[in-house]
Amino acid sequence: MTDQAAISFANLNVPEEGVVAVVAEEGPKLPPVAKDLDKTSKGLVSRGVEISGFKGKKETMVDLLAPSGLNFSRVVVVGAGKTAEYGSEDWLNLGGAVRGLLTGKEGPTAHIVIEGAGHEIAPADVANFALGVMLRGYKFRKYKSKTDKKNGPANETNDKTLRKIVVHCADPKAATKSFAPAKAMAEGVMLARDLVNEPANVLGPAEFAARAKDLGKVGVQVEVLTPAALKKLGMNALLAVGQGSARPSHVVVMQWKGAGPRAGDPFVVVGKGVTFDTGGISLKPAAGMEDMKGDMAGAACVVGLMHELAKRKAKVNAVGIIGLVENMPSGSAQRPGDVVTAMSGKTIEVLNTDAEGRMVLADCLWYAQDRFKPKALVNLATLTGAVMVALGKEHAGLFSNNDQLADWLTTAGKETGEKLWRLPLGPKYDKMIESKVADIKNTGGKWGGSISAAQFLQRFVKEGTPWAHLDIAGTAMASVDSDVNRSWGSGFGVRLLDQLIRDHYERA
Ligand code: BES
Ligand code: MN
Ligand code: ZN
Repeated sequence: MTDQAAISFANLNVPEEGVVAVVAEEGPKLPPVAKDLDKTSKGLVSRGVEISGFKGKKETMVDLLAPSGLNFSRVVVVGAGKTAEYGSEDWLNLGGAVRGLLTGKEGPTAHIVIEGAGHEIAPADVANFALGVMLRGYKFRKYKSKTDKKNGPANETNDKTLRKIVVHCADPKAATKSFAPAKAMAEGVMLARDLVNEPANVLGPAEFAARAKDLGKVGVQVEVLTPAALKKLGMNALLAVGQGSARPSHVVVMQWKGAGPRAGDPFVVVGKGVTFDTGGISLKPAAGMEDMKGDMAGAACVVGLMHELAKRKAKVNAVGIIGLVENMPSGSAQRPGDVVTAMSGKTIEVLNTDAEGRMVLADCLWYAQDRFKPKALVNLATLTGAVMVALGKEHAGLFSNNDQLADWLTTAGKETGEKLWRLPLGPKYDKMIESKVADIKNTGGKWGGSISAAQFLQRFVKEGTPWAHLDIAGTAMASVDSDVNRSWGSGFGVRLLDQLIRDHYERA
């Protein structure tokens, strides 16, 4: 996994080395540490502040290089706006933004000072800030070769030289404690990002399954179902998608039992894991096809989440199920017009082999309900290009048969900044997937493509199972830059579902 600069917490005295970033609230007064630095530098900081007209507003800063009188290579005063009005996402984003200012060229150590103006910043907020620092520091550098002078040594590290980030705050002991689950979170998100960023020649269904199997090390029970087992279970829809590939399909079942045996039915999360989606015989155009290495982002999120829950010892019983297949055209590939019988017994007419994700999920969702009777069932999938037409890249599409679950998810989205927008389901839309020759067909026509895909999934959800489908095609891969993410694979969904679990499914 990613080799990141180590984060630690210290009190508000700042040792003189490396780079120091001081977070300043909006208003006329500089924080005490900045005043100390000003004294030692004989007024450099206050002059810089005055000349630049710095008022502590958000997205402003005063950048002082090689300040005389100080041993620091750089002092940055960063505007935070009014932190008294901050929510958890604001702290996270501020941490990301400050991390973005550190180039790694100033030396191995960075000091970041966060001190409230007249109020103490809560340890939980400091921890969120530090999580933002970590998430922003992620870079996928695995395939940069050793001889790359510009980018430094070949590994997945984020910087050439930055090794240590010390966050100075009012109560470092409490911050360290609050940071433990945040660190588990950072690891979970970065694991998901690593998986999404990995090219498909390296990460096929079997290799992905092996990476999921690694979760055994953190206490997750992992079972890998091979094609023979899937055949026995009757997962013919999933197998049909993978039958054109030389690489065998797998399903992985991960169980984290953090709430003990008497906690009732588990929370189950299912992920689409198409390790590469060529479209199959209904082949995709060449332009942009490389992006389809990310068509397993749903499964990556599930693995990242299970890792995170285990690492922070979440008091929840959660099950993760991922369907791992490669969608390839070949002499053994499924054809348009084929009819397959899914595990549930429903027959599917395959009109377009590029509508493969729903076939994979159909069997995984059925298996999930058949075996685990979920308290709630959430699936994530890079399911349709159409969801980007509808929502762009800011919101993931949310579909649900349960208003409460939909509301809980929407709220968790607002809390974490992994935002969701609910789209409709209904009988008229369901008509779109009626087939002339089988029970249903796997495409729903020209309009409302994300909705007919969701209707297809709902055909495999039992009456009474609270279920939600997240279409993350626009948010999990080829991601837009944000304060906390500069990676192609964003790791979308890990923080979102962790928040949902914390709010509603975890035992106190
Ligand atoms: N994996 C794609 C959806 C996708 C597109 C994800 C772009 C991320 C970026 C999915 O399997 C797919 O091909 N969907 C088709 C469905 C159609 C054939 C009914 C689509 O969206 O065009
Ligand atoms: Mn496809
Ligand atoms: Zn796909």
